[in-house]
Amino acid sequence: MSAPTRSKRISPRQIGERKGATPIVALTAYSTPIARLLDTHCDLILVGDSLGMVLYGMPTTLGVTLDMMINHGLAVMRGTERACVVVDLPFGSYGASPEQAFRSAARIMAESGCSAVKLEGGAEMGATIAFLVQRGIPVMAHIGLMPQSVNTLGGFRVQGRGEQEGRKLLDDALAVQQAGAFAVVIEGTVEPLARTITQKVSIPTIGIGASVACDGQILVTDDLVGMFADFTPKFVKRYAETGETIDAAVAAYAADVRSRAFPGDEQTFTQA
Ligand code: KIV
Repeated sequence: MSAPTRSKRISPRQIGERKGATPIVALTAYSTPIARLLDTHCDLILVGDSLGMVLYGMPTTLGVTLDMMINHGLAVMRGTERACVVVDLPFGSYGASPEQAFRSAARIMAESGCSAVKLEGGAEMGATIAFLVQRGIPVMAHIGLMPQSVNTLGGFRVQGRGEQEGRKLLDDALAVQQAGAFAVVIEGTVEPLARTITQKVSIPTIGIGASVACDGQILVTDDLVGMFADFTPKFVKRYAETGETIDAAVAAYAADVRSRAFPGDEQTFTQA
C-alpha cells in the first residue's frame, strides 16, 4: 500500500498562521472554471452566499439554501488543488442553535469536501463557533457589515462609526477569536477601527471595504473583473471590464448569425 500523498492545499491553520505576514489574497468563486483561474493566485477562495445575488439575481443573500452552497462548494473544490476553500453557511442554517450549525456545517464539509465554513456574527455566535471548532470544523467568522443581517442593520451601511459601535465591533472580533475562529472577515468598516481590531486580535483579519490595515483582502470576483455595469461599491477596484467584453462578443455573434457570416467554412463539417 502506498503512503498517503500530502495535500498541497493551504489549510485553515496555515491561514491562521499568516497573521501579520504577507497579506492573505482571497476572492470568491462559485464555479469550477473560475475556481481554476483563481487557484494559483489566491491563498483562500470563498464560496460566498453572495452567489444568491451575483449568480441567481436575488435581491439579498437571505434566499440562499444549504443545497445551493453545497453544490457550488463542490464545483469550486473540483477546480482547485492549492487554495484553502471556505464555504458560507447560509441564512437560517446556523442561527437557531450550535447543534443546528453543526448539522449544516457537517453537511457542507462532508458533501463538498471544503476545508472550512464561514458564518456571520460576533459575540452572539461565540458559543456556536466554539461548538463547531471543538467538533473538528474550522470556522472563519464575519463581522462588521453582515449582509444576512441587512434587515436589522438598517441596510448596507458602513459599520464602526461612533464610539459605541466601534467598541461593540472590537468586542465581536475578540469574542470570535476567543471562540476559536482561525480568521475573521471584516466587512464595510471604517479604517481606524479595522486597524485597531487588526492590532488587537491574534487571528488574521481579512478585509472587504475595511482598509489596507487588514491582514488580507477579499473581494467578490465578479466585481473586480467588472461583470456589472450598473453598480460598483466604493471599496471595489475594477481590474477588467469583462461585462463590456462579453457584451461586444455577443453583439458580434448576433450580427454574424443575422448576416449568415457564422458559421463559416472553418466551423462547418464537410463530407470528406
Ligand atoms: O458572500 C460573500 O461573498 C462574502 C464576502 C463578500 C466576504 O461574504
